Amino acid sequence: MFNFNLHTPTRILFGKGAIADLRAQIPDDARVLVTYGGGSVKKTGVLDQVLSSLNGLEVIEFGGIEPNPSYETLMNAVKIAREQQVTFLLAVGGGSVLDGTKFIAAAAHYADGVDPWEILENGGASITSAIPMGSVLTLPATGSESNMGAVISRKTTGDKRAFMNPHVQPQFAVLDPVYTYTLPPRQTANGVVDAFVHTVEQYVTYPVNAKIQDRFAEGILLTLIEEGPKALAEADNYDVRANVMWAATQALNGLIGAGVPQDWATHMLGHELTALHGLDHAQTLAVVLPSLWNVKRDSKRAKLLQYAARVWNITEGTDDQRIDAAITATRRFFESMGVGTRLSDYGLDGSSIPQLIAKLEEHGMTKLGENQDITLDVSRRIYEAAR
Ligand code: NZQ
Ligand code: ZN
Repeated sequence: MFNFNLHTPTRILFGKGAIADLRAQIPDDARVLVTYGGGSVKKTGVLDQVLSSLNGLEVIEFGGIEPNPSYETLMNAVKIAREQQVTFLLAVGGGSVLDGTKFIAAAAHYADGVDPWEILENGGASITSAIPMGSVLTLPATGSESNMGAVISRKTTGDKRAFMNPHVQPQFAVLDPVYTYTLPPRQTANGVVDAFVHTVEQYVTYPVNAKIQDRFAEGILLTLIEEGPKALAEADNYDVRANVMWAATQALNGLIGAGVPQDWATHMLGHELTALHGLDHAQTLAVVLPSLWNVKRDSKRAKLLQYAARVWNITEGTDDQRIDAAITATRRFFESMGVGTRLSDYGLDGSSIPQLIAKLEEHGMTKLGENQDITLDVSRRIYEAAR
């Protein structure tokens, strides 16, 4: 196991009615900017619950943060946060609203006269302070509610880039599984696939004898395989929704990634697919992952075999047969959730692969993966095998 320095400071308020504890998390003199997306939280009544719990505080609202939140939209909120001297941000929604709010938090404190897009160019290294924030999550998927990462898109240039900084980690997360009953099946499925891929990006690498991290990762994967289909079939089954929600948070709050190698190439190749073609984040992952495992089967051999045995019970056949079977099982799982695993499922024929590779190069993604050996040439093979 590698050395690690782990700090996961987000308070988790979990369960039915957890919003009752929201008010106590925010200072009495706060000027709060409540952020949300395209309106689902208005329809479901979650926004009303949030606003009434903030009774007595000065509250401003900013809605309209789109899926794959855009720099262009978020800069309007940055202007409001600066002009209104907002001192606390409360994000209500899915990963896009949370990520967008993290950007607002950092950009509002950014040096005058400097374009905060710079944050995305240096991966968040230039952030020295941010407006404190909290979150009320309505879509279990990204783990954004209790991590320090965010992914922001810039429509005019076709970029989708990530940043990380401890200053933007939410102070608390309200996780009420009841809020997820209203998710459209596509978003429920996306969430399960995203959490699944977060887990394997930190697990299917190479062994470092990290038994706790491995067993935790396997527990998350088994839970998602068991509960994911049930969440689609029984949208308002509390226990199912609770298990999916907690699995997604655990998949990317730092715990299973501490002390182990991490890959993240599937995410980087996926981000370019969203930026260029508008696929949902999870759809891109379902397309890239099986193909990446196929191409990288030699360097991932030991962990792919462990994954095959412990997650899918695949123990018979040669090494390569077991790896093939594990990749097929993974593909079938994603497809059973309604998420296609081929570029052709989204009407793409692969003709844009040169453009995708050019964007990876522009973004410095020339050595990806746990061994830094996914060069542009390997990325091209992965995209090609995903057709
Ligand atoms: O915008 P509204 O109207 O709220 O509707 C949303 C949106 O259309 C809807 N929705 C959310 N909760 C709902 C609901 N509809 C009904 N009932 C509810 N309870 O769902 C749609 C998708 O929402 P979005 O926030 O875009 O989805 P998700 O949570 O999957 O977030 C995706 C974004 O997160 C980034 C992705 O790249 C993508 O931009 N990621 C962030 C990460 C992080 N911060 O650590 C890691 C991830 O790998 C990921 O890259
Ligand atoms: Zn993801």
